[in-house]
Amino acid sequence: MSFPKEFFWGGATAANQFEGGWNEDGKGDSVCDHMTSGTVDKHRYFTNIIQSDAQYPSHEGIDFYHRYKEDIALFAEMGFRMFRMSINWTRIFPNGDDEIPNQKGLDFYKSIFEECRKYGIEPLVTISHYELPYHLMKKYDGWVNRKCIDFYIQYCNTLFVEYKDLVKYWLTFNEINCLTMSIGDILSGGFKCEDGPAQVMGGQDTKEQLTKRYQALHHQFIASAKAVKLGHEINPEFVIGCMIAGGCIYPYSCNPDDVLLAQKDMRMNYFCGDIQVRGEYPYFTKRMFDEFGISISIEDGDREILKSGKVDFYSLSYYMSTCRTIDEEVLKTAGNVVMGVNNPYLKSSDWGWQIDPKGLRYLLNELYGRYEIPIMVVENGLGAIDKVEVDGSIHDNYRINYLRDHINQINEAIKDGVDVIGFTPWGCIDLVSISTGEMKKRYGFIYVDKDNDGNGTLDRSRKDSFYWYKKVIASNGDTLY
Ligand code: BG6
Repeated sequence: MSFPKEFFWGGATAANQFEGGWNEDGKGDSVCDHMTSGTVDKHRYFTNIIQSDAQYPSHEGIDFYHRYKEDIALFAEMGFRMFRMSINWTRIFPNGDDEIPNQKGLDFYKSIFEECRKYGIEPLVTISHYELPYHLMKKYDGWVNRKCIDFYIQYCNTLFVEYKDLVKYWLTFNEINCLTMSIGDILSGGFKCEDGPAQVMGGQDTKEQLTKRYQALHHQFIASAKAVKLGHEINPEFVIGCMIAGGCIYPYSCNPDDVLLAQKDMRMNYFCGDIQVRGEYPYFTKRMFDEFGISISIEDGDREILKSGKVDFYSLSYYMSTCRTIDEEVLKTAGNVVMGVNNPYLKSSDWGWQIDPKGLRYLLNELYGRYEIPIMVVENGLGAIDKVEVDGSIHDNYRINYLRDHINQINEAIKDGVDVIGFTPWGCIDLVSISTGEMKKRYGFIYVDKDNDGNGTLDRSRKDSFYWYKKVIASNGDTLY
């Protein structure tokens, strides 16, 4: 194996899916606090008023809020060199447009970072991971309102100053490209909406909705660029990245129409990437907007702002690949963000996500060839059902196999010449699934005793993959068996 000596092995989480303590110590409510739990067959609901008879999984999460010391100690036991987490915006600014930050929120994250540092773990902090203050949705219609840029920058400024010496690695927005799709309407865009399931898992792709999405995205690009510039001014040592939902898309056949379709859809990796890495809208934007029939407002000076805030590294999530075809008959495959058709050469997870380690190598090469800046794989993993044996052990060899195969392919990409600097698999401790809101879909090395209905002791225990990953890290990727 040839992983660099200083490679960042670790794990990833997000506040909205594991923190809990949703209204404690002055925290306000985020958009995700208004989303009920669901299952693979039953959509999550968005409710504007919190209903007493519904279950909202972010409210308790897995109670990291009260158990972070125990959890970070377990990460340290595995040998983590990096821990990816997000800050809950509403713990710092409960409404988003407040003038003064909430001291208890600031103190909470300070203790987390100090705890990480105690074990030599480098925090990687996502500034916004589906945690927009609900108040910004209600009062401003979320990111479609340009005012959100100022609110976000005030929030970033507070974080950068407060944690200047505790955090070095930052990500401005989680999976920013999700806002090109309906799944991002609430979680990423924070667009005002009625109660119901539709927008959560698929609002309409009307001209109006697309205009809204790309306008909101433009505001996020400006916010991200301003944050990068500000961060570098506050501490020139800061390393600030973008985060894109990675999609590996193949043509289903060698029909040139399938090939062109796949090439076009691979732009899901490049549209946001080009703006955040190169500081400008890509060459294909005009035709894409023309085909959508949309135009957005770009103010004087915006293009300069984008140029002045290019990110230091590219990061991505990667779970699966899909195929594109013009053949209507070919079966549709399931997935949360990367939709497409089944690849007959691949197997799927229980949630219908097609497992494709080589797709990761392919994508890493494509991205590095385009951008030539360091890359981190900040999410990857297998959502699966775990069985607890009578003696408490959990034999999750399926998870080990999935991760081993992906680590092997990252290694191949490194040998190809790609500058991959870190790997933080998703949900290193079991947490709430974003697409279904359930606990049953587990990714962790650490098991959390909680079921879909919210029952359980919340006790933590080590799965087989825990011991396996510990060996992987200790050997810097040399021991994968
Ligand atoms: C990514 C998100 O899309 O995928 C995470 O950044 C999410 O927040 C992860 O949890 C896995 O998706 P799911 O639906 O299995 O939780």
